[in-house]
Amino acid sequence: MATLAKIQKKSRTRSPQAVVPPRWRMSESEATDESVWLKRRALMQGGLIAGVAGAAGVTAPFADGARAATEEDPSAHLHPAPRNEAYVLDRPLTTEEDATQYNNFYEFGSSKTIHEKAQKLYLRPWDIEITGLVKNPRTIGVDELFSQVSFEERLYRLRCVEAWAMALPWTGFPMRDLVALAEPLGSAKYVKMTTLEDPKVMRGQKAVWYPWPYIEGLTMDEAMNELAFMVTGLYGKPLPKQNGSPLRLVVPWKYGFKSIKSIVSFEFTEERPVSFWEEVQGKEYGFWANVNPVVPHPRWSQASERMIGSNERRDTLLFNGYGEEVAHLYAGLEDEFGDLLYR
Ligand code: MTE
Repeated sequence: MATLAKIQKKSRTRSPQAVVPPRWRMSESEATDESVWLKRRALMQGGLIAGVAGAAGVTAPFADGARAATEEDPSAHLHPAPRNEAYVLDRPLTTEEDATQYNNFYEFGSSKTIHEKAQKLYLRPWDIEITGLVKNPRTIGVDELFSQVSFEERLYRLRCVEAWAMALPWTGFPMRDLVALAEPLGSAKYVKMTTLEDPKVMRGQKAVWYPWPYIEGLTMDEAMNELAFMVTGLYGKPLPKQNGSPLRLVVPWKYGFKSIKSIVSFEFTEERPVSFWEEVQGKEYGFWANVNPVVPHPRWSQASERMIGSNERRDTLLFNGYGEEVAHLYAGLEDEFGDLLYR
């Protein structure tokens, strides 16, 4: 029987190697991670970090029929991408270790320490379904999708409804570029996104009391907003599996549960989708989930947040500090939805 370690060793030895072009530029010094960044940049300028060109991962079956994890990430050559300087932080970056070892990914369990279990996730083949109210419903390989968009890095705050927060360097592309590729019809009002469902790999999906697969949704205006970001990388590298590889959403003005991981489908709909957590407990988690310090969750005051790593407490900012970019999306909706916009 092939073990995961054997399969990974095999795939390592088979993969062609290529040098990543030194596209990295670092304009800000974030004290927490400066040494890590500088070390990486020095290595890259010396041409010593090898990336993987093309779809190099080897996928092999487990004895139980589940597909195995692959070692190298075929999107390595796309990372790092140049930083978009328009997005600045008001706080130091969270360390890479904290960002990749303190996670919420219920498909692998309900604890924060699922990063090892998540290594069972495979990277390829990974198809994305574009369906519903679009000109041409189709299925597209994730690498084909990546070849049609431009990558950049953005520094964003991340705020979980559990009242903890991080500040992270994500790599990806604007969600509006994906919407443009999808060519939605005028009747589309929402985008419904779905995570992979494969309980043999995502063992947390054996918990039958949850309504798998994980689903999230945005209005078309939200999806087209400049801040909505499709993420493929973190800290200048391909997205770690525990953070939702190969493709996740990041919407920094909303609570973290809206930022759905490991997406396999985008469906354009006329009806508002019911998201995973809304179905689990609609009174606690709503569709809108915009960050607001004065609307408490039944179990967590939202007045302040704890930065992961430093444990520093900071006052929560309305829309997580992104009001200038997004407040207009909700003008006029307060009469209809009131506090529901913020839970
Ligand atoms: N996406 C899926 N598919 N499954 C999940 O359990 N958790 C959400 C969100 N996306 C989750 C998910 C929650 S609650 C948070 S706070 C963020 O992912 C955490 O992202 P991170 O682990 O990269 O920090």
